[in-house]
Amino acid sequence: MASMLGIIGGTALNRIADLAVLRREIVATPYGEPSAALTFGRLGGAEVVFLARHGDGHTIAPHRINYRANIWALQTQGVRDVVAVATVGGIRDDLTAGTLLVPEQIIDYTHGREATFFDGLAQPLEHVDFTKPFCESLRQRLLGAAVAAGDSVHDGGVYGATQGPRLETAAEIGRMARDGADVVGMTGMPEAALARESRLCYAMLAVVVNAAAGRGANTSGVAIAEITAVAAAAMTRVGRILAAAARQHGD
Ligand code: HPA
Repeated sequence: MASMLGIIGGTALNRIADLAVLRREIVATPYGEPSAALTFGRLGGAEVVFLARHGDGHTIAPHRINYRANIWALQTQGVRDVVAVATVGGIRDDLTAGTLLVPEQIIDYTHGREATFFDGLAQPLEHVDFTKPFCESLRQRLLGAAVAAGDSVHDGGVYGATQGPRLETAAEIGRMARDGADVVGMTGMPEAALARESRLCYAMLAVVVNAAAGRGANTSGVAIAEITAVAAAAMTRVGRILAAAARQHGD
C-alpha cells in the first residue's frame, strides 16, 4: 500500500474544508503530545493525514509547538511525505500578499526550541545532511499539483524562520533581506530539520499574507487584520493544490 500523504496546516488552516474525515486519533509520543489529534481522511480521492500545527483552536504559539511530537506522530503512522502549509511575510518586493511559493532554502533565526531528536535519549548521535532542507521530489510534485489545480505558484525562495510570536522590526527584516531571505515565517524550523532527521520527505507550501515589517506598503506597520483576510482567501487555493497533490500521491 502506498504511504499516506501527511499535511501540516498552519495559521488559517486548522482544517481542510474538502477533507472527508474518516477518523481522528490522539497519538502518544516519547516527546509528549502533538499539537492536536491526527485527522485521517480522504482528499482528492487519496487517504491523507492532517495535523493542525497550532492546535485545533489555534492556541499554540510558534515557540510552544511540540515539533518533535508532531513529526514523530506523523512518522509512526506510516507517513513518508509531508507537505507543510505556512503563512509568511514577503521580504522580496515581488512576493506580495496572495503569492504562493514552494521555498527551496531556509535560514534559521529561532532559539530555545527543542530542535533535534538526537538529544542523547534514544538514538546515537547522527549529523544529518541539510544542504537542501526541502525534499526536492516533493517540491516538484507540489509545483506540479499547483499546475494541475490551475494555480500559479512561485518556485523557490529562501524562508527565514523567526522566533515570534511578535512580528519583526523593520531593521530585523532589513538584516534578513541582506542575508538573502525572501520570506519570513515562524514555524519552518525546527520542523524541517526534525523531518529530515526522521527521514521524511518534507516540503513547504508557503502563503504570503503580508509584506514583512518595513517592506512594501508596510513601512510604518503591519496591518494584522489584513493578514487574516488574505490568509482566509488563499486557503481555498491551498486546499485545491493539496487535493491535487494528494491525488497524484495516490496514483
Ligand atoms: N513575519 C513572521 N511570520 C509571519 C509573517 C511575518 O511578517 N506573516 C505571516 N507569518
